[in-house]
Parts: sequence; C-alpha cells; structure tokens
Amino acid sequence: MTFDRSIKIAPSILAADFANFGAEIAAVEAQGADWIHVDVMDGHFVPALTFGAQTCKAIRPHIKTVMDVHLMISPVDAYLQGFADAGADIITAHVEAGPHIHRTVQNIRDLGCKAGVALNPGTPAAAVADLLDMVDLICVMTVNPGFGGQKFIDMSEKVRALRDMIGDRPIHIEIDGGVDPTTAPIVASAGADVLVAGSAVFRGGSVADPSAYGTNIKAIRAAAV
Ligand code: DX5
Ligand code: ZN
Repeated sequence: MTFDRSIKIAPSILAADFANFGAEIAAVEAQGADWIHVDVMDGHFVPALTFGAQTCKAIRPHIKTVMDVHLMISPVDAYLQGFADAGADIITAHVEAGPHIHRTVQNIRDLGCKAGVALNPGTPAAAVADLLDMVDLICVMTVNPGFGGQKFIDMSEKVRALRDMIGDRPIHIEIDGGVDPTTAPIVASAGADVLVAGSAVFRGGSVADPSAYGTNIKAIRAAAV
C-alpha cells in the first residue's frame, strides 16, 4: 500500500448481500471501488452483530484491493491476532472501546498491519493527539456506529482540525456513515481522502446487474472535490 491523498471510495459490505460476499466484492471492485470496508460489530460496543475474523478470512481471497477492517468491538486487543491472520491490510479500533487505545494501536502495528483509530461523533479530535506518530488512518464517524443507512452528521470541523494536526504525516482521514454524492463534498473539501459508503454504493444494483454500483461510485467520486 503506497500512501497518497487522492480520493478513495471504500464500499462497506454491510450493505451487500451477506450470502454472496465474494461475488459482491468482485462486482464493486470491477465497478471502481478502491478499498473494501469490512464492518465488524459485536452487539456490545454497538447494538448490532455482524461477523468476525473467520468471515474476514473467508472473504480475503476475493479482495484484490485493500481490506479495511473496522472493528466496532470491545474489548478489542484479544481479537487483533485473528484479524491480522485473516489478512487485514488496515485494522481500525475505536478510541472509545477501552482505556488502552495506545496499546491497541501498537499491537496492530506489531502484527504487521496498518493501524487506524476511529472517533465517534461525540469524541473530539484531541482524543487522537498523542497517537499521531503511530497511526496510518483516522476514521471520523459521521453517524453513531451500529447500522448502515443512517443520516449523515456533519463533522467537517473535526476533519479540518485533524487535517491541521496531521500536517505532513502520512495519515489517511476516512469518513464513515451517510456518505453520498450530497455529503461527500462537505468532507472531501475539509480534508478527508477515504470515503466509506454502504447504501449509497449498493443501492439499485446486484451481482447479476452491478452497473448501478459503478454509477454510484462514480457519482460519489465526482462529487468529492
Ligand atoms: C456504521 C458502519 C458504516 C456503515 C456505512 O456503523 O461503520 O461503515 O455501514 O453505511 P452507510 O454508508 O449506509 O451509512
Ligand atoms: Zn465502518
């Protein structure tokens, strides 16, 4: 993975057909996805349950781009090895998930993965100020995590603050939640470079007829200026 700040669209498979992840991933990648965003939920840190490391391992061979694993779980440390073994390129943990985010980030890097930290809408940018020299990605949640298809919460002030704090460091700013062609420009102009989108990518398409995925990805990318 080489670092750059160009806009990257990361479809969240949370909005895909759960019985057909392999084909869904191949379809969105063929239609222009830059990364694949994988939402892991534990029914404890967030209300919903999705899947764990075994499913990540099963879908890994179908991902040709970047496997971006978003852990919405608490506790997190004991599970990191499993996600690294599953082949995650990036593992992101929430700063709210426990008292030891510094240790978690260190563990992720020690496992050979890129390390991300996620901030819920109620958590300020300052919460990651002492982690900037040890992270590869900061995920700014623009919904309260737990479900796809929620309304975008404007966090552009936080994105601007993070962009200033980051300076020249090679750290991606990722936006997760409610991204579509109307909200993408708000966060892209504030300094984000990775846009996660679930419903706005998968709506209107299917594995049998994936052209809508391409149209949707292009519309978000075109709007993100
Ligand atoms: C929310 C997840 C997001 C979500 C995005 O808890 O982390 O990745 O699936 O879905 P949309 O784009 O539908 O808001
Ligand atoms: Zn996510």
